[in-house]
Amino acid sequence: MSIGLDQELLQLGKTLVNQFSILLRTAQIHDVRNVAFEQPFEQFQRTLYALQRQLGDLSLRVERDALFIGEMKLKMDIDTYANFTHVMEELKNHQVGMVTLQESLKADELVKFIHLFATQAVKGGWAFSEFEQQLKRAGVLNIGIEEYRKDEERESLEEATKDRKEMAKRAYAKAFAAVTEVMDNVKVGQTLHLYRARRVVQSMVDQLLQDEAALVGLTTLRCHDEYTHNHTVNVCILAMVLAQRLGYDRNLLSDLGMAALFHDLGKASISHDLLNKPTDFTEEDWKIVRRHPILGVKTIIKLKGPSEAAIRISFGAFEHHLNYDLSGYPRLPRSWDMTMFGRVIGVADCYDALTSSRVYNRVPYSPEKALKFMLAKSGRAFDPLLLKVFVNSIGIFPVGTVVLLESGELGVVMKVSGNIDKADRPTVKVIADPSGNAVDGDLVDLVEQEEKSGTYRNSIVKTIDPSSYGLDVSRYFV
Ligand SMILES: [Fe+2]
Ligand SMILES: [Fe+2]
Repeated sequence: MSIGLDQELLQLGKTLVNQFSILLRTAQIHDVRNVAFEQPFEQFQRTLYALQRQLGDLSLRVERDALFIGEMKLKMDIDTYANFTHVMEELKNHQVGMVTLQESLKADELVKFIHLFATQAVKGGWAFSEFEQQLKRAGVLNIGIEEYRKDEERESLEEATKDRKEMAKRAYAKAFAAVTEVMDNVKVGQTLHLYRARRVVQSMVDQLLQDEAALVGLTTLRCHDEYTHNHTVNVCILAMVLAQRLGYDRNLLSDLGMAALFHDLGKASISHDLLNKPTDFTEEDWKIVRRHPILGVKTIIKLKGPSEAAIRISFGAFEHHLNYDLSGYPRLPRSWDMTMFGRVIGVADCYDALTSSRVYNRVPYSPEKALKFMLAKSGRAFDPLLLKVFVNSIGIFPVGTVVLLESGELGVVMKVSGNIDKADRPTVKVIADPSGNAVDGDLVDLVEQEEKSGTYRNSIVKTIDPSSYGLDVSRYFV
C-alpha cells in the first residue's frame, strides 16, 4: 500500500468514527425517520463507501483504549478526542468489540442497526447475544458483531504490563545515561554526540505508543543527587505524553523528546554545588541560575553548529521559562511568538519541578496540588489549551497519586482512565488495608461496576499526601 493511500485511509477512518459518533448522538435524540437524521446518515454512508471501495468489508474494532479500522490503528488528536472516546465507550457499553460492515450491506440495514444500537437502554445486565438476535430479527444480516471480552483483555493486559514495565525501565535508564554523557561532555567542552540520545528518545516514543502508563509511572522516581538528569528524562516523557494527545506523529514526537531531554542543558555550565545547594537560593544565585536557558542555546549552537536539529532543540532550552505571557525569563525586549515545543516543554517542566523535591519547594507537591497550582496560572504562565490537554492526559489523579478509597483502603494510581468522562476513575493498586497495614494488593479498575445494581465497586474519596505517611510511591513502578 502506498504511503499516500495509507494516509488517506487513516483520514477516512478518523472521519468515519467522528461521523459515527454524531450519528449515534442524533439517533438518540431523533427518530431515524426524522429529517435531522438524514444528513449525518448520508455523510456517514459516503465515508463508509469510500473506505469499502479500498478495503472491502469494513471492520471497526475497539481494543483497550484504541480504535482500529481493519488493522489500522486510528490516531486520536485533540479534535477527535471526544468523539473517539464516545464511540469506544458506546461499543464497550454494548459489549461489542467489533462491528463488521459488509460490502453487501443495504442502507435500510444500516439505519436499523444505528437505531437499535443508539436506542437500546444500556444497563449493567445488557446481554450481547440478545442484541445479536434483535439484529437478526430486524433483518440486519450484513452487519456482524463480535463480543467485547473484558476479562481476556485484563489478563493479557497484566501480562503485557510486566514486560512493558521492564522495557520502560530500560528505556528510562538509557535516557538517563545519555543525558549524563552529554552533560559531562559539555562540562569538558567536547563535541556533542546526540545520536545516542536520539536513539534512546526514539525507543521511548515506541514505549509511549505501546504503554504510556509504564513510562509515566517512572517519572515518580526521585533521585535527589542527580535531580537535573532525572528531571530532564521526566520532562521528556511528560512532554511527549502531552504532544501525543495533540496528534504529533512519531518523528515530531522524537524531535520534541530531544528538545525536552536537553531543555536544561545550560545547567551543565552552572556549578553543581550551586544547583544542589542545600539552602534557598539567594538573589545572586538566582541571577546565575536564570542564565541557563541562554547558556543552553549557546552550548548547543557552539558544539553542534547551526543545524536544523540543533535549532529545534535550542527552542526548548530558550523558551521553557519564558511563560505564555512572556513574563518569565529570559526577558525579551519585544514580542515573541513562542514555538509549540517551548510551550509544551514549559508545561511539562513546571509539573515535574513541582512534583520533585527541588527548585520551587523543599517538600514535593502531590500531583493534584501541582495541577491546581498550575491551573491557577493558566493563560499567564501556560498556554490554557495545552494545560487543559495536559491535565486530561495525565488525569485529575495522575499516575503516582496516593488515594483513600471508599473501602477504607489506600491505593496508588497506576494508570489513568482512557475515557475523559471517567477521569476520576483510574486503575489503582491497593497498598494498605482499611486498618492501615501495608499490603501488596490487587490492581483495581475503578470503572468497574456491580453486575446487578450498576453502582461502582469502589471510588476515590480523597487524595493523600504520600510524604505525610512516609510513602515512596516510585517503588510501585520499578
Ligand atoms: Fe530550566
Ligand atoms: Fe527544567
